[in-house]
Amino acid sequence: MRTLIKDGTVVTAVDTYKADVWIENGIITGLTHPAQRAQYGEAQTVIDAAGKYVLPGGIDAHTHLDMPFGGTTSSDDFETGTRAAAHGGTTTIVDFAIQTKGTALRTGLDAWHAKAEGKAAVDYGFHMITTDVNDSTVAEMGQLVNEGITSFKLFMAYPGVLYVDDGQIFRAMQRAREIGALICMHAENGIALDVLIKQALERGETAPKYHSLSRPQIAEAEGTHRALCLAEMAGAPVYIVHLSAPRALEKVLEARDRGMAAYAETCPQYLFCSLDDLAREGFEGAKYVCTPPLRPKEMQEDLWRGLKTNDLQVVSTDHCPFCMKGQKDLGRASFAQIPNGMPGVETRMYLMWDGGVRTGRISMNRFVEITSTAPAKIFGLYPHKGTVAVGADADLLVWDGEMEHTLDHANMHMRVDYSPYEGRTVFGGATHVLSRGRVIVEHGKYQGKKGDGRFVKRSTFSLG
Ligand code: URP
Ligand code: ZN
Ligand code: ZN
Repeated sequence: MRTLIKDGTVVTAVDTYKADVWIENGIITGLTHPAQRAQYGEAQTVIDAAGKYVLPGGIDAHTHLDMPFGGTTSSDDFETGTRAAAHGGTTTIVDFAIQTKGTALRTGLDAWHAKAEGKAAVDYGFHMITTDVNDSTVAEMGQLVNEGITSFKLFMAYPGVLYVDDGQIFRAMQRAREIGALICMHAENGIALDVLIKQALERGETAPKYHSLSRPQIAEAEGTHRALCLAEMAGAPVYIVHLSAPRALEKVLEARDRGMAAYAETCPQYLFCSLDDLAREGFEGAKYVCTPPLRPKEMQEDLWRGLKTNDLQVVSTDHCPFCMKGQKDLGRASFAQIPNGMPGVETRMYLMWDGGVRTGRISMNRFVEITSTAPAKIFGLYPHKGTVAVGADADLLVWDGEMEHTLDHANMHMRVDYSPYEGRTVFGGATHVLSRGRVIVEHGKYQGKKGDGRFVKRSTFSLG
């Protein structure tokens, strides 16, 4: 069985050209000039991409599906979250499996395999959140790498829950260097922040906006700097997750200028939402509680500049949805009790196209790079995923740059009772989403089925 996507304009991180895309057995088998089509024979399925772009499917390297957190569990599971991802043009996710303190990494990993298997709509991999770094987990890190879990997330924040100290971080980084793994760092000084949070609550500052005001950007800059210093001492690469603050970005930039293998992602919420949203009337601001917090609006331009100049390499979502009713409202009396996280797996590609490409902030090629190619390279998925090339998985989007959507939660597929972007109209979206050659979304209709998505073993870290 052959599929042909004809007459589209292929866009990769580096090229833009007219081509027919031929697919067999889930793999791209040919990229040919439309004028020569007749000589390549027939296809059983033909998708007309005239006037549209053909892009590699989005890769979201930061999701939290079915995750127990903040006294509740993120509201999307692997079925609903990956289906929503597919609708939004994301064909691979890398989710975070969690080690519960005092248990083996294996136990946490097995639990996440069980959550995903038979449910996912798109391909998925796992990072491993490591909450105990000791002799036995350090040994286990090597076993996990052999099974395709090649990145480990550590937290400088959330003391008593996910937090690990500098000694543990350093040890994990040394081990990462030995085994070709990548450490992903939640870089905020959680110990100092806990003091600020307690003091804010003592002053009666309980509304959602104090979530941001009690987590100043200097705490993120300090954490980022410390993570980079520890990585340099260990000779290990490091990836700063969900970077929100210009002063933290300065630290990444300095490290990269020194030649370090230092990488960082930001997320759409830091580019499109701000402290003003957290300060909305009544309890509305709870919708925007995530960590690191949303920052003053004027800081957004620095992040856009970072994306343009490659000081930031990736935009992923940190998709961690909680419903207002029954979840976010656990924190009506105190922002410190609001489950941290925002929905985003479905809206990332729309927002980055509409707010990035259409405004002229980034090129189409850069859009592809930050949403697909760079995360594929950094997280060991390339060249099977993250580009349009002969031999790559046919995870593809037929992208209409003018397709109109309103980002209301009622129009979307994430299992959450609000949208941070309610009422916002965006242009750009996929008419067809293909996962390993199969059309799973066509003109907004889901054509796939539960369990289509496969676990992907990722390669070790290979960038310099
Ligand atoms: O608020 C957030 N980011 N929730 C998810 C957990 C994390 O730190 O990534
Ligand atoms: Zn985090
Ligand atoms: Zn996260």
